[in-house]
Amino acid sequence: MLTATLPETELDPLSAVIHPDPYPYYRELATRRPFFRDERLGLWVAAGPREVAAVLAHPDCRVRPPAQPVPPALAGTAAGDLFGRLIRMNDGAAHAPLKQILMPMLAAIDPAAAAGRAGAMATVIDAGAASGTPGERANRWLFTLPVVTVADLLGMPVAEGDKAAEIAQRVAAFAAAQSPLADAHTVRAGAEAAQWLGTWLAGATPTDGPLPALHQAAHAVGIDAQAVAANTIGLLVQACEATAALAGNTLLRLGRGTPDVALQAVVTRVAQDDPPVQNTRRFLAADAQLCGHAVKAGDAVLVLLAAASCAGLADGERTWTFGHGRHACPGERLAQALAAATVAALLARGADPAALARAFRYRPSLNARIPHFL
Ligand code: HEM
Repeated sequence: MLTATLPETELDPLSAVIHPDPYPYYRELATRRPFFRDERLGLWVAAGPREVAAVLAHPDCRVRPPAQPVPPALAGTAAGDLFGRLIRMNDGAAHAPLKQILMPMLAAIDPAAAAGRAGAMATVIDAGAASGTPGERANRWLFTLPVVTVADLLGMPVAEGDKAAEIAQRVAAFAAAQSPLADAHTVRAGAEAAQWLGTWLAGATPTDGPLPALHQAAHAVGIDAQAVAANTIGLLVQACEATAALAGNTLLRLGRGTPDVALQAVVTRVAQDDPPVQNTRRFLAADAQLCGHAVKAGDAVLVLLAAASCAGLADGERTWTFGHGRHACPGERLAQALAAATVAALLARGADPAALARAFRYRPSLNARIPHFL
C-alpha cells in the first residue's frame, strides 16, 4: 500500500504527471513497487531506476505496439504518414541508417552556439510575441523560441517574424495531435499542420547549416527524401513540448525562490527533480521475462522516468527525463541550452517568474509536465 497522505485513489502513475507534487508518490513507488502491474490502467509500471533501465534496454520492448505503428486516430492522415517515418517511433532495421546520420549531426551542434543563436532568434520573434497578458506571452515564447532556433540551426529559412511564429504554431499543432488525449479537432489540426510543414519544407531552400549534407548523406545510402523531410520536421516536434516544459518548469522554480546557482545549473536541476517528460512507454513484441515477471506479447509498460529520477538510490543522481538506451534523446544538451536561453530571453523582456508561478495550471497530458501560465 502507498502512503497515507497520498492514497492510491488520489494518484495513479498517469495522473501523477500533472499533480502539483507527485514526487513523494513516485519515490514510494520506486522504492516499494519498482515493477508492478496496474490492473486499472491495464499497464505494467516500471518505477525503480534499475527496472526503468532494464525495460529500456530489453530487446523485446518496442516504442510502438508491433501491430499498430501509427496511433489509430492519425492513421491515413498526413500526420500519420509523417509519424510512421519517424526514427523516434520505430525500432525497425529500415530506420537504422537514417538514425546513424541524424545522431552525429545533432551531436555536432554546440550547445553554447545554440544558445547564442536563440538570442538572435529572440530578436526576430520579438515583434510577433509581445502582445497579450504576461502569461500568454510566456506561453508563446516557450512554444516558439526553442523550435525556431532548432529550425534555424538546421539551416531552414525561419528568420522572418511571421514565418517563425507560424512554423512554431504548426509544429505545436502536430505535436498536440500525437497525444492520446487529443480530440477530433486537435487531430484534424495536426493533420493540416503536418501537410503544411511538409509543403513548407519542400519549398524551403536551406540557408547554411547541416541540412544539405544530411540530404546528400541520406541519398548516398538510398534513403528517400520523404523520410529525411519527415525526420527533419520530427526534430522540431521533439524540440517543442518537452523543451517548453523544461523552460516552463524552470520559470516555476525561479518563481518559488531564487536559487543560488547559475540559470543553466537551475535547468539541469529541474530536468532531474521536476522533469518535463515524466514517462515513456514500451510494448512487448514477444512473451518475455521482465524484471522477474512473465510479460506477454502485446503488453504495454509505462516507464516512469520521473520516479527513477527521484528514487534516491545508488544511481538516482542521474537525469532520466531524456530516456536511456537505444532511443535515448540525442538532443539532451541542446534542449538544456535552449531552455536556459528561452528563460533568459523572457527574463530580459521583463517576465516575472514569481507572478507567473502564482497563476498557472499544467496542460492536460499523460506524459509531459508542461505549465500553462494564466
Ligand atoms: C527538454 C527537452 C527534451 C526532453 C525532455 C526530451 C526527451 C526525450 C526522450 C525521453 C526520448 C526517448 C523516448 C523514448 O525512449 O521513449 C527522446 C528521444 C528523442 N529526442 Fe528528445 N527530448 C528533448 C528535446 C529534444 C530536442 C531539442 C531534440 C532535437 C532537436 C530531440 C530529439 C530527439 C530524438 C531525435 C529522439 C529519438 C531518438 C531515437 O529514437 O533514437 N529531443 N527525447
